[in-house]
Amino acid sequence: MLKLAVLVSGGGSNLQAIIEAINQQSLFATIVTVIADRPCYGIERAKAVNIPTYLADRKIYRQNLSSKIAEFIPEDCDLIVLAGFLSILNQNFIQRFNGKIINIHPSLLPKHGGAGMWGLKAHQAVLDAGDTESGCSVHFVTEEIDGGKVILQTKVDVLPNDTANDLQQRVLNVEYPTLIATIKTFYNENVRFNNE
Ligand code: GRF
Repeated sequence: MLKLAVLVSGGGSNLQAIIEAINQQSLFATIVTVIADRPCYGIERAKAVNIPTYLADRKIYRQNLSSKIAEFIPEDCDLIVLAGFLSILNQNFIQRFNGKIINIHPSLLPKHGGAGMWGLKAHQAVLDAGDTESGCSVHFVTEEIDGGKVILQTKVDVLPNDTANDLQQRVLNVEYPTLIATIKTFYNENVRFNNE
């Protein structure tokens, strides 16, 4: 069974999708810890179902945030899922868990990724660019923000009168199955570490 650590900063709806997929036995995994970098609803969702949680407040740990988080990730953890996690993990962290960290991003990378491209900003950038399609990408985390190898993407249409909020909701609806499907690919050990 895959052992997952899930890192959150916000509403945690992707975390909830993982919890539900596990409960419905569609995903053969267990969440060993949920770690947040700020107080947020995501960590409350984990507490509600008795998953061990840890709040590594970014305002307290600042430069030490990554090493503090690493302390709470068990050695035998198979996969670290960044599910709406907004802090940048440092080089030591990424090297230590090389090939075992994935992130979900709400655009079709390499479009509209990188520093500052989070939340509604990514969706607004899609609208400003006049793109006719958007979607989500699950990718390996490397030192380049949103620059690691893409594992799975799902597309959605951009509709003529879409606001950033409309697009965010349409993309979120495809994020959940895309994230679950990606995690399932890690049943195969060869996928882990194959992030080149
Ligand atoms: C999602 O859109 C995800 O792609 C991005 O942050 C958002 C998190 O949403 N990285 P939630 O906290 O899972 O509801």
